[in-house]
Amino acid sequence: MVDSKRVVKVALLGCGTVGGGVIRLLKENAAELATRIGAPVVVKRVLVRDAKKQRVPECEPGWITTDPEVVFGDSEIDLFVEVMGGENPAKSYVERALSLKKGVVSANKFMLARHGKALLAQAARAGVDLAFEASVGGGIPVIRTLREGLTSERILSIHGILNGTCNYILTRMRVEGLPFAEVLKDAQRLGYAEAEPSLDVDGHDATQKLVVLSMLAFGAQVDDKKVHVEGIRDIDELDFQFAERFGFTIKHLAIGVERGAKLELRAHAAMVPRSSVLANINGVLNGVFIRGAALGPCLLMGPGAGAMPTAVSVVADIVDVARASLEGTPGLSTRAIQPKPRELLDMTEVESRYYLRFDVNDEPGVLAVIAKALAEQSVSVEQLVQQGRGGTGATVPVVIITHQCREGSVLKAFEEVRKYKFMSVPPRLIRIEDV
Ligand SMILES: NC(=O)c1ccc[n+]([C@@H]2O[C@H](COP(=O)([O-])OP(=O)(O)OC[C@H]3O[C@@H](n4cnc5c(N)ncnc54)[C@H](OP(=O)(O)O)[C@@H]3O)[C@@H](O)[C@H]2O)c1
Repeated sequence: MVDSKRVVKVALLGCGTVGGGVIRLLKENAAELATRIGAPVVVKRVLVRDAKKQRVPECEPGWITTDPEVVFGDSEIDLFVEVMGGENPAKSYVERALSLKKGVVSANKFMLARHGKALLAQAARAGVDLAFEASVGGGIPVIRTLREGLTSERILSIHGILNGTCNYILTRMRVEGLPFAEVLKDAQRLGYAEAEPSLDVDGHDATQKLVVLSMLAFGAQVDDKKVHVEGIRDIDELDFQFAERFGFTIKHLAIGVERGAKLELRAHAAMVPRSSVLANINGVLNGVFIRGAALGPCLLMGPGAGAMPTAVSVVADIVDVARASLEGTPGLSTRAIQPKPRELLDMTEVESRYYLRFDVNDEPGVLAVIAKALAEQSVSVEQLVQQGRGGTGATVPVVIITHQCREGSVLKAFEEVRKYKFMSVPPRLIRIEDV
């Protein structure tokens, strides 16, 4: 039953890509949303930086303001939707909305990764909701899955393709055999990568999303700056050729694994078997592979960004928050999220199989040195390939696939090998994830 006397009034903080999509979806699906909430939902205020900028046609000019006081001073607003991004003023606006005891929906992974615990605690004290489905995986309902569908479950691990830009670049590198720099330029031209791409291609975006997921999956409050992060700039065509040869493909993964008292969190490029479900999530798509103690494996995949997919998540949160408020149970689902500090496993203690690549001068005795250095650290070799013959001054790649071993052991072997003059560039490793 729709109670048309009760109208849910929404203020949007920001009206860019996501905000525009939210306004459009609220209008397009107005009748269905009213039924699902039990009352119509309308936009009343839209806070932006530049009042003159063109907005989606569904955005009424009368909603727009550049004055936060107009928005926060409007006592009719029931719910604030933060889709401006960045740390501040987004965080201070969310704090202000919560202090007014209003529900908040946010798409802001950066703010949540840095201040999620404090903001959730503030929401819980105020007895209101802070919902953030769109902060990870765009349109994929991964937060809701962890928060509701898997609330009965003990999560053992998460492997996520959480950055569409990285996935797009790696997919094209693999399919077309192109170098990173060329695909990045193309991705920028097509709007799949920012002009300043480091947040995406250096792995920070995926790390922030991993930290947000960890709050729900592992009950962990983690400083994103302490998570081991690597990007994809160093991956080259040769790595893809070897990946192909060994039956792998290369993906950028955000990984969380329960390790007893400690938590293993890392984001980096990884080789995954071509038969893995993650190997077939290509282009800008995102995917999250969750392993639960009782459930076993569970895969979610879909569009990780874009105006309308992301709006689907934001508006789903609006429905939840508005409905809880109308039914007199605001804050219930938010109170259940109580992340606590968790100690992270040091990377030297991580155990994995490894792809190791040594670009060496083609000299007698090189292989023996590498093999000895690995053997001394108990790193056992599963496969070894030396490709081609180097001409004068040229290097040849020696590639090794190891059995399961400690990363610290591999790094010690690297130290030993680096003492020799036959290597002018440092050896490299790519972790192999058998998901
Ligand atoms: N884009 C995606 O596909 C996607 C997917 C998932 C999550 N997200 C998250 O959603 C959030 C928004 O992303 P977006 O892509 O929509 O960003 P965007 O296109 O850059 O839009 C940001 C909006 O916020 C407004 N804004 C920024 N700073 C402001 C300030 N100080 N005061 C008032 N208004 C301000 C801007 O105003 P003006 O328009 O006047 O400049 C703009 O309307 C971010 O947290 C992002 O990480 C985005």
